[in-house]
Amino acid sequence: PLKMLPSFVKRPSGAEKGRYLAMDLGGTNLRILCVELDGRGGANVTAMSRFGVAKHLMNGPGAALFDFMAQCLADFLRQNSIGPDDRPALAFTFSFPTEQTAIAAGRLIIWTKGFSASGVVGQDVVKLLEEALARKGLRFIRITALVNDTIGTLVSKSYADRSCDAGVILGTGTNACYPEKISNIARNKNPGRDGEMIINIEWGNFAGLAQTPYDVELDKCSRNPGFQFLEKMVSGMYLGALASKMLADMGLRGVSEFFRGGHELKTEDMSRIAGNDFRALAESGLEHIGPDERKTLQNICGLTARRSARLAGAAIAAVITWMDPQLLREHLVGIDGSLFELYPRYRENICGVFDDIFGAKARGIRLELAKDGSGIGAAITAAIAEQTGQ
Ligand code: GLC
Repeated sequence: PLKMLPSFVKRPSGAEKGRYLAMDLGGTNLRILCVELDGRGGANVTAMSRFGVAKHLMNGPGAALFDFMAQCLADFLRQNSIGPDDRPALAFTFSFPTEQTAIAAGRLIIWTKGFSASGVVGQDVVKLLEEALARKGLRFIRITALVNDTIGTLVSKSYADRSCDAGVILGTGTNACYPEKISNIARNKNPGRDGEMIINIEWGNFAGLAQTPYDVELDKCSRNPGFQFLEKMVSGMYLGALASKMLADMGLRGVSEFFRGGHELKTEDMSRIAGNDFRALAESGLEHIGPDERKTLQNICGLTARRSARLAGAAIAAVITWMDPQLLREHLVGIDGSLFELYPRYRENICGVFDDIFGAKARGIRLELAKDGSGIGAAITAAIAEQTGQ
Protein backbone atom coordinates (compact mmCIF):
# COMPACT_ATOMS: atom_id res chain seq x y z
CA PRO A 1 0.00 0.00 0.00
CA LEU A 2 2.96 2.41 0.31
CA LYS A 3 3.55 4.00 -3.08
CA MET A 4 7.20 5.02 -2.47
CA LEU A 5 7.23 7.61 -5.26
CA PRO A 6 10.54 8.94 -6.63
CA SER A 7 10.72 12.74 -6.48
CA PHE A 8 13.68 13.33 -8.84
CA VAL A 9 15.32 15.63 -6.26
CA LYS A 10 17.91 15.27 -3.56
CA ARG A 11 18.38 17.51 -0.55
CA PRO A 12 19.70 21.01 -1.31
CA SER A 13 23.27 22.17 -0.68
CA GLY A 14 22.14 25.42 0.95
CA ALA A 15 23.81 27.46 -1.82
CA GLU A 16 20.66 27.71 -4.00
CA LYS A 17 19.93 31.35 -4.70
CA GLY A 18 17.40 33.58 -6.41
CA ARG A 19 13.74 34.57 -6.49
CA TYR A 20 11.12 31.91 -7.20
CA LEU A 21 7.35 31.54 -7.19
CA ALA A 22 5.58 28.61 -5.59
CA MET A 23 1.97 27.55 -5.99
CA ASP A 24 0.76 25.10 -3.36
CA LEU A 25 -2.43 23.03 -3.75
CA GLY A 26 -2.98 20.41 -1.12
CA GLY A 27 -6.05 20.97 0.99
CA THR A 28 -8.73 23.53 1.53
CA ASN A 29 -6.46 26.46 0.55
CA LEU A 30 -4.40 27.34 -2.47
CA ARG A 31 -1.31 29.33 -1.50
CA ILE A 32 0.95 31.34 -3.77
CA LEU A 33 4.31 32.52 -2.51
CA CYS A 34 7.25 34.51 -3.75
CA VAL A 35 10.45 33.31 -2.05
CA GLU A 36 13.95 34.86 -2.01
CA LEU A 37 16.78 32.40 -1.37
CA ASP A 38 19.99 33.99 -0.10
CA GLY A 39 22.34 31.12 -0.99
CA ARG A 40 23.39 30.71 2.65
CA GLY A 41 20.48 28.59 3.93
CA GLY A 42 18.13 31.55 4.42
CA ALA A 43 14.71 31.79 2.74
CA ASN A 44 12.52 34.85 2.94
CA VAL A 45 8.85 34.84 1.90
CA THR A 46 8.42 38.26 0.26
CA ALA A 47 4.76 37.81 -0.69
CA MET A 48 2.08 35.25 0.06
CA SER A 49 -1.61 34.96 -0.82
CA ARG A 50 -4.11 32.36 0.31
CA PHE A 51 -7.24 31.47 -1.66
CA GLY A 52 -10.00 29.18 -0.38
CA VAL A 53 -10.76 26.24 -2.70
CA ALA A 54 -14.55 25.88 -2.92
CA LYS A 55 -16.16 22.41 -2.78
CA HIS A 56 -17.47 22.73 -6.37
CA LEU A 57 -13.88 23.18 -7.56
CA MET A 58 -12.59 20.21 -5.53
CA ASN A 59 -15.30 17.95 -6.90
CA GLY A 60 -16.23 19.45 -10.30
CA PRO A 61 -14.51 19.42 -13.69
CA GLY A 62 -10.69 19.43 -13.44
CA ALA A 63 -10.39 22.26 -16.00
CA ALA A 64 -12.35 24.54 -13.66
CA LEU A 65 -9.96 23.75 -10.78
CA PHE A 66 -6.89 24.51 -12.92
CA ASP A 67 -8.51 27.67 -14.37
CA PHE A 68 -9.11 28.82 -10.78
CA MET A 69 -5.44 28.27 -9.95
CA ALA A 70 -4.35 30.19 -13.05
CA GLN A 71 -6.68 33.06 -12.17
CA CYS A 72 -5.31 33.22 -8.60
CA LEU A 73 -1.79 33.34 -10.02
CA ALA A 74 -2.78 36.12 -12.44
CA ASP A 75 -4.13 38.15 -9.48
CA PHE A 76 -1.00 37.45 -7.44
CA LEU A 77 1.32 38.54 -10.26
CA ARG A 78 -0.66 41.75 -10.77
CA GLN A 79 -0.65 42.60 -7.05
CA ASN A 80 3.09 42.04 -6.82
CA SER A 81 3.99 43.66 -10.18
CA ILE A 82 5.61 40.50 -11.55
CA GLY A 83 5.53 40.31 -15.35
CA PRO A 84 7.05 38.60 -18.40
CA ASP A 85 10.33 40.53 -18.06
CA ASP A 86 10.98 38.82 -14.72
CA ARG A 87 10.95 35.41 -16.51
CA PRO A 88 9.46 33.90 -13.35
CA ALA A 89 10.12 30.23 -12.56
CA LEU A 90 7.32 28.53 -10.67
CA ALA A 91 7.38 25.41 -8.51
CA PHE A 92 4.07 23.58 -8.30
CA THR A 93 3.39 21.88 -4.97
CA PHE A 94 0.71 19.33 -5.74
CA SER A 95 0.08 17.29 -2.61
CA PHE A 96 -1.55 14.18 -3.95
CA PRO A 97 -0.07 10.82 -5.02
CA THR A 98 1.68 11.62 -8.30
CA GLU A 99 3.92 9.33 -10.36
CA GLN A 100 6.70 11.63 -11.50
CA THR A 101 8.64 10.96 -14.68
CA ALA A 102 10.91 14.00 -14.30
CA ILE A 103 11.42 16.87 -11.88
CA ALA A 104 8.65 18.86 -13.60
CA ALA A 105 6.28 16.17 -14.90
CA GLY A 106 3.98 13.68 -13.19
CA ARG A 107 0.63 11.98 -13.47
CA LEU A 108 -1.96 11.97 -10.69
CA ILE A 109 -2.46 8.36 -9.53
CA ILE A 110 -5.55 8.89 -7.35
CA TRP A 111 -7.19 11.82 -5.55
CA THR A 112 -7.09 11.97 -1.73
CA LYS A 113 -8.37 14.38 0.99
CA GLY A 114 -11.90 14.76 -0.42
CA PHE A 115 -10.86 15.92 -3.92
CA SER A 116 -12.44 14.20 -6.92
CA ALA A 117 -12.15 16.75 -9.79
CA SER A 118 -12.80 14.93 -13.07
CA GLY A 119 -10.36 14.47 -15.92
CA VAL A 120 -7.21 14.76 -13.79
CA VAL A 121 -6.38 11.18 -12.69
CA GLY A 122 -3.85 9.74 -15.14
CA GLN A 123 -2.97 13.18 -16.54
CA ASP A 124 0.28 15.15 -16.24
CA VAL A 125 -0.72 17.86 -13.77
CA VAL A 126 2.08 20.20 -14.90
CA LYS A 127 0.67 20.07 -18.42
CA LEU A 128 -2.85 20.76 -17.12
CA LEU A 129 -1.53 23.80 -15.23
CA GLU A 130 0.45 25.01 -18.26
CA GLU A 131 -2.67 24.78 -20.42
CA ALA A 132 -4.70 26.72 -17.84
CA LEU A 133 -1.95 29.38 -17.63
CA ALA A 134 -1.98 29.68 -21.43
CA ARG A 135 -5.75 30.22 -21.36
CA LYS A 136 -5.13 33.18 -19.01
CA GLY A 137 -2.32 34.65 -21.14
CA LEU A 138 0.39 33.51 -18.70
CA ARG A 139 2.55 31.53 -21.11
CA PHE A 140 5.64 33.35 -19.82
CA ILE A 141 5.52 31.41 -16.53
CA ARG A 142 7.99 28.51 -16.56
CA ILE A 143 6.95 25.58 -14.35
CA THR A 144 10.30 24.11 -13.39
CA ALA A 145 9.44 21.73 -10.54
CA LEU A 146 6.56 19.53 -9.38
CA VAL A 147 6.75 18.81 -5.66
CA ASN A 148 4.77 16.94 -3.02
CA ASP A 149 4.32 18.92 0.23
CA THR A 150 6.40 16.39 2.18
CA ILE A 151 9.31 16.93 -0.22
CA GLY A 152 8.95 20.71 0.16
CA THR A 153 9.01 20.32 3.94
CA LEU A 154 12.18 18.18 3.96
CA VAL A 155 13.89 20.41 1.40
CA SER A 156 13.05 23.61 3.30
CA LYS A 157 14.37 22.28 6.64
CA SER A 158 17.48 20.71 5.16
CA TYR A 159 18.30 23.94 3.25
CA ALA A 160 19.42 25.36 6.61
CA ASP A 161 20.30 22.15 8.46
CA ARG A 162 21.84 19.10 6.76
CA SER A 163 20.91 16.79 9.64
CA CYS A 164 17.27 16.93 8.53
CA ASP A 165 16.40 13.60 6.97
CA ALA A 166 12.62 13.32 7.09
CA GLY A 167 9.76 15.59 6.03
CA VAL A 168 6.35 14.96 7.54
CA ILE A 169 2.91 16.51 7.05
CA LEU A 170 0.38 16.37 9.88
CA GLY A 171 -2.45 18.58 8.64
CA THR A 172 -5.52 18.03 6.48
CA GLY A 173 -3.73 14.90 5.26
CA THR A 174 -0.68 13.02 6.48
CA ASN A 175 2.40 11.73 4.69
CA ALA A 176 6.20 11.65 4.87
CA CYS A 177 9.33 11.50 2.75
CA TYR A 178 13.00 10.64 3.32
CA PRO A 179 16.22 10.51 1.27
CA GLU A 180 16.96 7.04 -0.14
CA LYS A 181 20.20 5.77 -1.70
CA ILE A 182 19.69 5.80 -5.47
CA SER A 183 21.20 2.32 -5.63
CA ASN A 184 18.30 1.07 -3.45
CA ILE A 185 15.58 2.39 -5.75
CA ALA A 186 14.25 -0.56 -7.73
CA ARG A 187 12.73 1.62 -10.46
CA ASN A 188 16.07 3.36 -10.96
CA LYS A 189 17.14 2.89 -14.56
CA ASN A 190 20.84 3.55 -13.79
CA PRO A 191 21.58 1.21 -10.88
CA GLY A 192 25.24 2.27 -10.85
CA ARG A 193 24.47 5.88 -9.88
CA ASP A 194 25.37 6.93 -6.39
CA GLY A 195 23.87 9.70 -4.35
CA GLU A 196 20.33 10.05 -2.98
CA MET A 197 16.84 10.76 -4.15
CA ILE A 198 13.99 11.82 -1.88
CA ILE A 199 11.13 9.32 -1.81
CA ASN A 200 7.52 10.29 -1.16
CA ILE A 201 6.22 7.39 0.94
CA GLU A 202 2.47 8.17 0.70
CA TRP A 203 2.12 6.58 4.14
CA GLY A 204 -1.50 7.76 4.42
CA ASN A 205 -2.44 4.62 2.49
CA PHE A 206 -0.81 2.27 5.06
CA ALA A 207 -3.38 -0.43 5.75
CA GLY A 208 -1.80 -2.64 8.42
CA LEU A 209 -3.75 -1.42 11.45
CA ALA A 210 -6.73 -2.86 13.29
CA GLN A 211 -9.80 -0.66 12.83
CA THR A 212 -12.48 0.20 15.35
CA PRO A 213 -16.13 0.16 14.18
CA TYR A 214 -15.86 3.99 14.00
CA ASP A 215 -12.94 3.76 11.56
CA VAL A 216 -14.87 1.27 9.42
CA GLU A 217 -17.93 3.55 9.37
CA LEU A 218 -15.85 6.65 8.54
CA ASP A 219 -14.13 4.85 5.67
CA LYS A 220 -17.47 3.68 4.26
CA CYS A 221 -18.86 7.23 4.20
CA SER A 222 -15.71 8.78 2.70
CA ARG A 223 -15.09 9.78 -0.93
CA ASN A 224 -12.35 7.16 -1.23
CA PRO A 225 -13.52 4.02 0.64
CA GLY A 226 -10.84 1.33 0.89
CA PHE A 227 -7.95 3.81 0.64
CA GLN A 228 -5.88 5.99 2.98
CA PHE A 229 -6.62 3.99 6.16
CA LEU A 230 -3.76 5.53 8.18
CA GLU A 231 -4.69 9.02 6.96
CA LYS A 232 -8.27 8.46 8.14
CA MET A 233 -6.99 7.60 11.65
CA VAL A 234 -4.46 10.41 11.88
CA SER A 235 -5.16 13.51 9.82
CA GLY A 236 -7.10 16.68 10.57
CA MET A 237 -9.60 16.11 7.80
CA TYR A 238 -11.05 13.12 9.69
CA LEU A 239 -10.49 13.50 13.45
CA GLY A 240 -13.58 15.65 14.05
CA ALA A 241 -15.82 13.17 12.24
CA LEU A 242 -14.27 10.24 14.12
CA ALA A 243 -14.78 11.83 17.54
CA SER A 244 -18.34 12.76 16.55
CA LYS A 245 -19.12 9.15 15.62
CA MET A 246 -17.96 8.01 19.06
CA LEU A 247 -19.97 10.70 20.81
CA ALA A 248 -23.09 9.85 18.83
CA ASP A 249 -22.66 6.21 19.78
CA MET A 250 -22.36 7.14 23.46
CA GLY A 251 -25.49 9.23 23.08
CA LEU A 252 -27.37 6.27 21.65
CA ARG A 253 -26.17 4.08 24.51
CA GLY A 254 -27.62 6.58 26.95
CA VAL A 255 -24.28 7.82 28.35
CA SER A 256 -25.40 11.35 27.65
CA GLU A 257 -28.53 12.43 25.87
CA PHE A 258 -26.74 15.53 24.56
CA PHE A 259 -24.53 13.59 22.18
CA ARG A 260 -27.40 11.80 20.50
CA GLY A 261 -28.12 14.60 18.02
CA GLY A 262 -25.30 13.70 15.61
CA HIS A 263 -23.46 17.02 16.01
CA GLU A 264 -20.40 17.05 13.79
CA LEU A 265 -17.30 18.45 15.50
CA LYS A 266 -14.54 19.97 13.41
CA THR A 267 -10.93 19.11 14.23
CA GLU A 268 -10.34 22.79 15.13
CA ASP A 269 -13.18 22.50 17.68
CA MET A 270 -11.49 19.47 19.22
CA SER A 271 -8.26 21.39 19.43
CA ARG A 272 -10.00 24.25 21.28
CA ILE A 273 -11.85 21.87 23.61
CA ALA A 274 -8.53 20.17 24.39
CA GLY A 275 -7.25 23.61 25.40
CA ASN A 276 -10.29 24.15 27.71
CA ASP A 277 -11.91 26.61 25.28
CA PHE A 278 -15.57 25.56 25.00
CA ARG A 279 -16.79 28.38 22.74
CA ALA A 280 -17.03 25.97 19.80
CA LEU A 281 -19.84 24.17 21.59
CA ALA A 282 -22.28 27.00 20.93
CA GLU A 283 -21.97 26.49 17.17
CA SER A 284 -22.76 22.79 17.65
CA GLY A 285 -25.78 23.50 19.86
CA LEU A 286 -24.00 21.92 22.84
CA GLU A 287 -23.47 25.04 24.95
CA HIS A 288 -25.72 23.76 27.75
CA ILE A 289 -23.93 20.51 28.52
CA GLY A 290 -22.96 20.05 32.14
CA PRO A 291 -19.53 19.40 33.68
CA ASP A 292 -19.78 15.61 33.33
CA GLU A 293 -20.60 15.79 29.64
CA ARG A 294 -17.80 18.29 29.12
CA LYS A 295 -15.43 15.82 30.72
CA THR A 296 -16.70 13.05 28.44
CA LEU A 297 -16.31 15.29 25.44
CA GLN A 298 -12.76 16.19 26.43
CA ASN A 299 -11.93 12.54 27.00
CA ILE A 300 -13.20 11.45 23.59
CA CYS A 301 -11.40 14.31 21.82
CA GLY A 302 -8.26 13.54 23.84
CA LEU A 303 -8.34 9.82 22.99
CA THR A 304 -8.87 10.48 19.28
CA ALA A 305 -6.04 13.02 19.09
CA ARG A 306 -3.73 10.89 21.25
CA ARG A 307 -4.23 7.88 18.99
CA SER A 308 -3.54 10.09 15.97
CA ALA A 309 -0.30 11.43 17.45
CA ARG A 310 0.89 8.01 18.63
CA LEU A 311 0.27 6.49 15.18
CA ALA A 312 2.12 9.41 13.59
CA GLY A 313 4.96 8.84 16.08
CA ALA A 314 5.08 5.13 15.26
CA ALA A 315 5.18 5.92 11.53
CA ILE A 316 8.04 8.41 12.01
CA ALA A 317 9.87 5.84 14.16
CA ALA A 318 9.51 3.30 11.34
CA VAL A 319 11.08 5.67 8.80
CA ILE A 320 13.98 6.48 11.13
CA THR A 321 14.52 2.78 11.88
CA TRP A 322 14.67 2.07 8.14
CA MET A 323 17.33 4.75 7.63
CA ASP A 324 19.33 4.01 10.79
CA PRO A 325 18.36 0.70 12.46
CA GLN A 326 20.65 1.17 15.50
CA LEU A 327 19.85 4.86 15.88
CA LEU A 328 23.52 5.75 15.67
CA ARG A 329 22.97 9.25 14.25
CA GLU A 330 20.96 12.30 15.25
CA HIS A 331 17.81 12.89 13.21
CA LEU A 332 15.99 16.13 12.58
CA VAL A 333 12.41 15.71 11.35
CA GLY A 334 10.77 18.73 9.67
CA ILE A 335 7.02 18.77 10.24
CA ASP A 336 4.40 21.06 8.71
CA GLY A 337 0.65 21.07 9.32
CA SER A 338 -1.91 22.42 11.72
CA LEU A 339 -2.27 19.28 13.85
CA PHE A 340 1.39 19.35 14.81
CA GLU A 341 1.50 23.13 15.06
CA LEU A 342 -1.70 23.78 16.99
CA TYR A 343 -3.21 20.72 18.67
CA PRO A 344 -2.46 20.79 22.41
CA ARG A 345 0.02 18.09 23.53
CA TYR A 346 0.29 16.59 20.02
CA ARG A 347 4.09 16.80 19.98
CA GLU A 348 4.35 15.32 23.51
CA ASN A 349 2.24 12.36 22.42
CA ILE A 350 4.49 11.73 19.41
CA CYS A 351 7.58 11.89 21.62
CA GLY A 352 5.95 9.49 24.10
CA VAL A 353 6.01 6.81 21.39
CA PHE A 354 9.67 7.48 20.66
CA ASP A 355 10.44 6.91 24.35
CA ASP A 356 8.47 3.64 24.29
CA ILE A 357 10.24 2.39 21.17
CA PHE A 358 13.77 3.76 21.50
CA GLY A 359 14.21 4.42 25.24
CA ALA A 360 17.10 6.81 25.99
CA LYS A 361 18.13 6.87 22.32
CA ALA A 362 14.93 8.81 21.58
CA ARG A 363 16.85 11.93 22.65
CA GLY A 364 18.66 11.81 19.30
CA ILE A 365 15.44 12.62 17.42
CA ARG A 366 14.40 16.27 17.11
CA LEU A 367 11.07 17.41 15.73
CA GLU A 368 10.90 20.93 14.31
CA LEU A 369 8.02 22.84 12.83
CA ALA A 370 8.71 23.72 9.19
CA LYS A 371 6.28 26.62 8.91
CA ASP A 372 5.16 27.06 5.27
CA GLY A 373 7.81 24.47 4.47
CA SER A 374 5.93 22.97 1.56
CA GLY A 375 5.89 26.26 -0.39
CA ILE A 376 9.39 27.42 0.58
CA GLY A 377 10.83 23.98 -0.15
CA ALA A 378 9.15 23.98 -3.55
CA ALA A 379 10.88 27.27 -4.38
CA ILE A 380 14.22 25.74 -3.33
CA THR A 381 13.45 22.75 -5.56
CA ALA A 382 12.83 25.11 -8.48
CA ALA A 383 16.29 26.55 -7.80
CA ILE A 384 17.85 23.07 -7.69
CA ALA A 385 16.15 22.26 -11.01
CA GLU A 386 17.40 25.44 -12.63
CA GLN A 387 20.91 25.21 -11.27
CA THR A 388 21.39 21.55 -12.15
CA GLY A 389 19.79 22.07 -15.58
CA GLN A 390 17.19 19.31 -14.99
C1 GLC B 1 -2.39 13.06 1.25
C2 GLC B 1 -1.72 13.05 -0.12
C3 GLC B 1 -0.22 13.21 0.00
C4 GLC B 1 0.09 14.45 0.84
C5 GLC B 1 -0.62 14.36 2.19
C6 GLC B 1 -0.39 15.59 3.06
O1 GLC B 1 -2.00 11.93 1.96
O2 GLC B 1 -2.02 11.83 -0.79
O3 GLC B 1 0.39 13.33 -1.27
O4 GLC B 1 1.47 14.56 1.03
O5 GLC B 1 -2.01 14.23 1.98
O6 GLC B 1 -0.88 16.75 2.48
